[in-house]
Amino acid sequence: MILTDDPAIEAVLFSAEQIAEAIADLAESIAADYRGEPVVLVGVLKGALFVTADLARSLARRTDGPSDICLDFIAVSSYGNANRTSGEVRLLKDTSESLEGRNVIIVEDIIDNGLTLAYLQGLLRGRAPRSLRTCVLLDKPYRRAIDVVVDYRGLLCPDEFIVGYGLDYQERYRTLPYLAKLRSDAFS
Ligand code: PRP
Repeated sequence: MILTDDPAIEAVLFSAEQIAEAIADLAESIAADYRGEPVVLVGVLKGALFVTADLARSLARRTDGPSDICLDFIAVSSYGNANRTSGEVRLLKDTSESLEGRNVIIVEDIIDNGLTLAYLQGLLRGRAPRSLRTCVLLDKPYRRAIDVVVDYRGLLCPDEFIVGYGLDYQERYRTLPYLAKLRSDAFS
């Protein structure tokens, strides 16, 4: 177990180095599939802010990957300020680029019940992309409510409420460089 000084953190589950390794592995797989082709990465705000940025730069550093990497963002919310899903997905901000005829990769920080990704895949498929794939840093497979195809997955997430590296609890802890479990008395 990695120790931390932050009193709200019970345990660091994935260090910054482990996250970087997972993202490099994701970039390697994506590079192999889109060699010489342009891609659009659609990051899902707010949680996937950091994974989208780091994945894009990891892909851009490679000479064997996509010919061009375009960044776009979409914002949805399913949790509000609670720590359990409401089951309702709301579109807060749409993409700004046209996705028609393009190779689109949805980039998510975490999949839990799957409703957010199912909603996003349906929405973006309706934009007639040339291809649509999904990349998820953390797979939390214990409470899936719907079958969702995930093409690229990084880390298997323990059955815990996770914060850090973009993931929040009541809008806090997103900027932690690692992924961590909160102490139970940190929940209000
Ligand atoms: C989180 C996360 C995913 C979604 C996954 O977003 O970033 O988008 O929940 O959950 P699901 O598979 O159970 O649907 P959240 O709604 O908390 O918004 P945020 O990214 O702005 O924190």
